[in-house]
Order: sequence, then C-alpha cells, then structure tokens
Amino acid sequence: MNSPQTIQYKNFTIHQYDCVDSTNDLAKDLANNQKICDREIIVATQQNKGRGRMNRHWVSPQGNLYFSLVLQPKISLNIIAQLSFVAIVALRLAVNKFVKNENYNIQNKWPNDLLINNKKIAGILLESINSNNICQYLIIGIGVNINSFPLDLSNIADKLQNYFSSINKDDLLKKFLDEFDILYQNWRDFGFKNIRQLWRQNAYNLNQEITIKPNNNNICGIFKDIDDEGNLLLEINQEIHKFNCGDVIMVL
Ligand code: BTN
Repeated sequence: MNSPQTIQYKNFTIHQYDCVDSTNDLAKDLANNQKICDREIIVATQQNKGRGRMNRHWVSPQGNLYFSLVLQPKISLNIIAQLSFVAIVALRLAVNKFVKNENYNIQNKWPNDLLINNKKIAGILLESINSNNICQYLIIGIGVNINSFPLDLSNIADKLQNYFSSINKDDLLKKFLDEFDILYQNWRDFGFKNIRQLWRQNAYNLNQEITIKPNNNNICGIFKDIDDEGNLLLEINQEIHKFNCGDVIMVL
C-alpha cells in the first residue's frame, strides 16, 4: 500500500490511496489506533477485498469511486443507522447535480442503495467502533459504479457513465461532500425528521407491495415507512413488522 496523497476540501480531509484491501478496513484500523479523526476520508483507486453488506464481496476495479467517510458523532447506537440515510440522500442529491434532463429516475432503495431507472449504481456499508453504548467512530463506506459493474449483475446493476458520459469521480466525491455537509448539519440541528422526509420522497416502492428477504425466507407486505432506527416497516395483514436487515427484492 502506497502512502496517500492528502488534500483538504472545505472542512474534510481526503486521503487518496492507489490500492487498498478495503477503505472501510483501513479506516477502521486507523480509528482503532486513533490515527484518523472526524471528517477524514479514505479514498482508493481500487480495492482488493472490497466488502458489501451481508458479508458480500464488492468488486472494486479501477474507474469506480470507493471511499470511507469517518465521523465521530458520539451518539447512542440505536440511531447510528440514521447517518447512512443522511449519506445516501446526499449521494442522490450529488448525482442529481449531473442530471441535464428529467429522463432519469434516481431512487433510494432500503436500506441504502442508490438506483437509477431501477438498477443499482451505489451502496453503503456502515460500520462503527463503539464503547459503553456510544459510537466512537462511524465509518460510512460508499461504492459508486462510475464506469463498470459486475456483468453477472447486469439485470439489477448499472453504471453512471451510461447516463452521464462526462461524470468524473473526483467531482462526484466533492459534490457528495457538499451535500453531506449541509444534511449532516441539518441532522444535528433537527434530528432525523427532515432526512427521513427527503429519503421518503424518492424511496423505491414506498407504499407498495414489496418482498423482503431478511434471511432465507421471502416476506411480502406493504412498505409503509422507515422508523427512527432505520428499520423498514412492513404491513402484513394489518400489522406492522420491523426489519433491520435484508434485501428488498427488485421487481424486474
Ligand atoms: C452494499 O451495497 O452492499 C454496500 C457496498 C459498499 C462498498 C463500499 S466501497 C468503499 C467501502 N469499502 C468497502 O470495503 N466497502 C465500502
């Protein structure tokens, strides 16, 4: 691993690496050794062992955007998921800045995927280092398909270059940080309510019938909302059931 190039962008410090195993793993190592602080970002050109949610591999060749934003929010554990919603809304607004006409449907899919025209173009892996029920470090790992995605996922995934040919990953990261800065401040001032509202405005299949796969079973119901802990609220036979993990199955 080469030493990084470090730049300052507004009140964020960005460490750009060529190749790492996983930006989340590196951020966690640095945090465990108190060598990284609030608002520092690890970016990598490529990852050898990129990780996704639910222990999946995140294929990470050169050309896409891979980064981990470190925060030290000192909040209780039950609300840390709120910050992944702050991040995915910020990413949606950042991608929207590239939109020149209205032919794109950019949506958040629970818990925190970003879709364009019903195909995934980005995902978030949220991890934390906690003590005494307080989050000491939060690591928001984000992968965005800029110029490639795994071909075996072509029915459910896409890349931003198919929509915005001139998109540049450095510009996208800066636009994301601009949006995140505003939303993070809003979240600290007013709590989750505005963020939830922004997330709901473009939520995939909200108020519709969905199928969720929390484990090996498929469960169907009406997707009613998310709660303050980021759980998905599903109405099944007029009763609300909470899900804190799983995949919402895409309707192809
Ligand atoms: C998902 O949708 O499953 C989440 C994918 C998160 C991938 C990003 S890429 C940067 C950061 N480092 C990792 O190892 N994973 C996250």
